[in-house]
Amino acid sequence: MGDDRAPGSSPGTILPSRASAGGAAPVAGRARLAVDREADRHFMRRALDLAARAGGRTHPNPMVGAVIVRDGVVVGEGYHRRAGEPHAEVEALRSARDQARGATLYVTLEPCCHHGRTPPCTEAILAAGLRRVVVAMVDPDPRVAGRGLSVLAQAGVEVAVGVEADRALRLNEAYVVHRVLGRPMVTAKYAMTLDGRIATARGESRWITGPRARRWVHRLRDRVDAILVGVGTVLADDPSLTVRWHPGGRDPVRVILDSHARTPPDAQVIRAARHSPAPTWVAVTPQAPAVRTARLEAAGVQVLRVPADPHGRVSILHLLRELASRGIVHLLVEGGASVHGSFFAAGLVDRVVAFIAPKLVGGRAAPGPIGDPGVDALAAAPALHRPTWRRIGEDWMISGYLRDPAALVCDQPPACREGPPPAPRAPGGTPGPATPGESAGTR
Ligand SMILES: NC(=O)c1ccc[n+]([C@@H]2O[C@H](COP(=O)([O-])OP(=O)(O)OC[C@H]3O[C@@H](n4cnc5c(N)ncnc54)[C@H](OP(=O)(O)O)[C@@H]3O)[C@@H](O)[C@H]2O)c1
Ligand SMILES: [Zn+2]
Repeated sequence: MGDDRAPGSSPGTILPSRASAGGAAPVAGRARLAVDREADRHFMRRALDLAARAGGRTHPNPMVGAVIVRDGVVVGEGYHRRAGEPHAEVEALRSARDQARGATLYVTLEPCCHHGRTPPCTEAILAAGLRRVVVAMVDPDPRVAGRGLSVLAQAGVEVAVGVEADRALRLNEAYVVHRVLGRPMVTAKYAMTLDGRIATARGESRWITGPRARRWVHRLRDRVDAILVGVGTVLADDPSLTVRWHPGGRDPVRVILDSHARTPPDAQVIRAARHSPAPTWVAVTPQAPAVRTARLEAAGVQVLRVPADPHGRVSILHLLRELASRGIVHLLVEGGASVHGSFFAAGLVDRVVAFIAPKLVGGRAAPGPIGDPGVDALAAAPALHRPTWRRIGEDWMISGYLRDPAALVCDQPPACREGPPPAPRAPGGTPGPATPGESAGTR
């Protein structure tokens, strides 16, 4: 396997422990593998298409698709629709019925081997008598992390891993961050002029971009679990933070960073809590006056009491942990400058989505997208990995990663399978005590 495998990109095969003793002749085995690989990619792509149908609705669970193939023919398909509903493997097994015996299962994420809201999929796979299981990627959830594959291989099922791994990872990158780092994946989004202003000196920012870019942002909101802004933006713009320009879209949770509960109870983001299916959460410090928090609660929002940072403002790290434990897997931070400044300074931005409008505002007092503290030396300026750019209407969008979730996944399945469950890393990268897999993970 080591001879023709590119690290992290090509599939590896884990031979079943019973079958490996009397394996096929090496040349015949390699030839069969080459043929299988083409077919494997084809069926895995189908499984990925099925997984994507859930369209960001599965949180805190991943999006997973599964296809069962017998003699080159698809006999069963399924995908995970939302948390609490059957896993993709179970859906596919149900649709394949007795045709699953001796067949191959293609599944975009390693099957689970623990009791969550539903029983382990490995048990269902073994009971159905599948001969081979092909997975796109190892499940980074510390409760699985290679153990699902191990259970199957030890029971005599032939297991292959890594087919279409990159696409599978992109589909579930927020899930990977949530499970490995114990916090939501953070996407920072802003719209600025060609000269780098997010508002005029008077604080006017509507609208910097054109209607197509704004529609695109509403589509992005539909895909995430929560949107966050600072109270400065609430006071300046009075946004509602709902999804309005994307037909069929659903509102994410709205989160306001507001240390002293200054958000007016009649702000749109508060009023939205009455008609939107998603709640509004206002994050305050213990110093927030009780009379103000009571007024907000009476207006129908939930007040999250979060420890203060050294500046007396809401501690972003604590807030992210709290959001993770509430099942928020992907957080969209929509500014303003002060909030972005804090997130960037804390190293807690995974992905940047920047819209650039071909307009010029000028003036020293007009703010840029990222406030204090910023970096002092150019050498310390973080650069985007895997940048992409495209035109959207009259504007440009540049996006990329500051911390690529791909770096968090284990692409060496046999090593993943050994040892006790790894301790999850806390936000920032050091081992932490609580895992959202324990508190919010429901698979
Ligand atoms: N073009 C765009 O994409 C875009 C997007 C958003 C906003 N804007 C513009 O940006 C301007 C508002 O930006 P802003 O910087 O004044 O306000 P902001 O970033 O929206 O909110 C800042 C406030 O949030 C509170 N906060 C609580 N915890 C914090 C923490 N850990 N770090 C930072 N802030 C924290 C602080 O008030 P407390 O101390 O009272 O808690 C702080 O003053 C407006 O003009 C708006 O139009 C533009
Ligand atoms: Zn499962």
